[in-house]
Amino acid sequence: MKLFVTGGAGFIGANFVLYWLRHYPEDTVVTFDALTYAGNLENLQEVKNNPCDVFIKGDICDKNAVRSAMDGCDVVVHFAAESHVDRSILDPSPFVRTNIVGTHVLLEVARERKIQRFHHVSTDEVFGSLDLSEKQIFSEQTPYRPRSPYSATKAASDHLVRAYFYTYRLPITITNCSNNYGPFQFPEKLIPLAITNLMEGKKVPIYGDGLYVRDWLYVEDHCRAIDMVLRHGKIGETYCIGGLTEDINNLSIVKKILAYMGKDESYIEFVKDRPGHDRRYAIDWSKIRNELGWEPLHDFDTWLKETIRWYQEHQEWWQRVKSGAYRSYYEQQYGKSL
Ligand code: NAD
Ligand code: DAU
Repeated sequence: MKLFVTGGAGFIGANFVLYWLRHYPEDTVVTFDALTYAGNLENLQEVKNNPCDVFIKGDICDKNAVRSAMDGCDVVVHFAAESHVDRSILDPSPFVRTNIVGTHVLLEVARERKIQRFHHVSTDEVFGSLDLSEKQIFSEQTPYRPRSPYSATKAASDHLVRAYFYTYRLPITITNCSNNYGPFQFPEKLIPLAITNLMEGKKVPIYGDGLYVRDWLYVEDHCRAIDMVLRHGKIGETYCIGGLTEDINNLSIVKKILAYMGKDESYIEFVKDRPGHDRRYAIDWSKIRNELGWEPLHDFDTWLKETIRWYQEHQEWWQRVKSGAYRSYYEQQYGKSL
């Protein structure tokens, strides 16, 4: 089988490419990635000399480039996106372009090329925000209520993908997952930012009161879920994917990281809140468990310790990421104080 993986040099995409070539060495993976600030070819070092790994630098909005790169591929797994909520607040334009226009270009070419499966990787943020006092959780039936430019563009892309199934019978599947963490995550997201800041002797910025709740999914569990959906998922269906966390807030997560890394709470710094900050996400992943037999391999604490260990053992990787173009964005977001 020949897979066309968009965004395969980013965090989840790279973990997926490595996962796939480890589990299915007979397959070929074409990674198509524009190498934006979030794309890093070092993430794919392990498969650099593998003849089954093909890398093509290209923009998903460029139809001709997509057309020639997708030639001969059987399956599309679409990760490429602008993915960071804070950046979408500073400038929504690249989010509209890549997440909506780019997804549309991919759908058009997939239709032309008669792709056997178009799998779209999406987010639980399309469902909006839950209250802390509510018992409610997101499921495949939850209406869409996106609240940030990022989640609005992801919601638009989900709608387009579904429209191509109903209108053109393009064989699609969609997964909406919660917050991922693990190796190769760009240190602009909470968990890698906290771990790497602490290794640099810096504080960890906590937005607002820190009582915001996310559901946390280890990236390898996520890759396994996509694998199951590709092999056994029903065409046209959506599957929600989450982790083994029970409403843990950001402050508690950072306190766990401090404890595991032997640091005290003076390393916490409360900073101004994110505008429109979604209070709580929680996800019901019983459909993928009941229908496909998927569940996370370990609990949050086990995977969190594993993640800390990975960043401790790969200091060169994140130091190179943090020293480049990342700096100017970092200062714009947090000022020079941290
Ligand atoms: P990321 O920001 O780490 O990586 C995105 C990748 O897409 C990068 O390699 C980048 O170079 C590439 N890219 C961006 N614009 C492109 C374009 N126009 N053409 C080609 N490539 C382009 O993102 P991630 O965290 O790995 O997320 C992957 C996908 O999963 C996204 O669709 C995101 O919405 C979704 N998702 C992420 C999370 C999470 O917690 N990280 C959770 C739910 C869903
Ligand atoms: O829910 C899935 C989503 O998870 C994905 O769709 C997004 O691509 C991904 O970026 C992530 O979005 P979040 O906004 O939840 O992730 P982030 O790591 O940016 O923030 C997690 C929580 O931590 C959120 O409540 C904001 C808070 N936070 C974040 C940063 C970067 C802080 O308190 N301080 C920080 O410095």
